[in-house]
Amino acid sequence: MHPLLNIAVRAARNAGDIISRRLGDRDAISIASKARNDFVTDVDHEAEGAIISTIQRHYRDHAFLAEERGQVGDSEHQWIIDPLDGTTNFLHGLPVFAVSIAYQYRGKLEHGVIYDPIRQELFTASRGGGAFLDDRRIRVAKLNSLEGSLIGTGFPYTDHRYLDEYMAMFRAVIEKTAGVRRPGAAAIDLAWLAAGRIDGFWEMGLKPWDIAAGSLLIREAGGMVGSLSGGTDYLDTGNIMAGNAKIFAALGRLIRPHLPAEMK
Ligand code: IPD
Ligand code: CA
Ligand code: CA
Ligand code: CA
Repeated sequence: MHPLLNIAVRAARNAGDIISRRLGDRDAISIASKARNDFVTDVDHEAEGAIISTIQRHYRDHAFLAEERGQVGDSEHQWIIDPLDGTTNFLHGLPVFAVSIAYQYRGKLEHGVIYDPIRQELFTASRGGGAFLDDRRIRVAKLNSLEGSLIGTGFPYTDHRYLDEYMAMFRAVIEKTAGVRRPGAAAIDLAWLAAGRIDGFWEMGLKPWDIAAGSLLIREAGGMVGSLSGGTDYLDTGNIMAGNAKIFAALGRLIRPHLPAEMK
């Protein structure tokens, strides 16, 4: 394992241990809200602190883009961190959440880790080196068409500006597939797609920390990731879709007609 990936794994496990421990005493969690329906807890902060200090112990001059503290430092070496993806699930004791850590060198994603502390599943990928669940190689599902497919998504929950467009996409996908799932943690959605557990995924308005590690996992598992508009700028737009080549194309054809004009 590459030394950088090794540190990312160590950081993710440290954060996962904190999250599991704190899950056992939810009454002691302090909650703040960043916007309506957008919560942050002291556990998010504690996990983020543990990740950053683990990395800094080895790489003093690297920079970080972390959900709770924003951009820290400036370097060709940038870590993109979601210390607890699925905070709302966590707050309810719904066991679907993860730690997501990606490493970029000169703007290119090189390594990614998603750690699910409940199932103790560790998803890792390095550019050009494939994607793994623990020590097993993973690949995206092989399905050729949307018929019979299972598709993941995320619902708009703070910003309802594009709810009509989203509902039109949702309807189109329901009509053509075997089912749609909303696990509630984008990093889990993407890791599960990389492992072939769901066939496709789309969501609008995600942030780089939700999708950086997951997108590398999917590409290294043989899948495609792109922006809903058809471009490759999904890390910036946050409007993301993914699947194997066939599902990716078919999902794009279903969804794109309903994209809000300003996202086209
Ligand atoms: C959220 C989750 C959720 C997605 C949201 C994200 P957070 O991340 O990934 O699935 O729908 O848009 O913000 O805030 O729990 O880290
Ligand atoms: Ca959040
Ligand atoms: Ca997140
Ligand atoms: Ca988070």
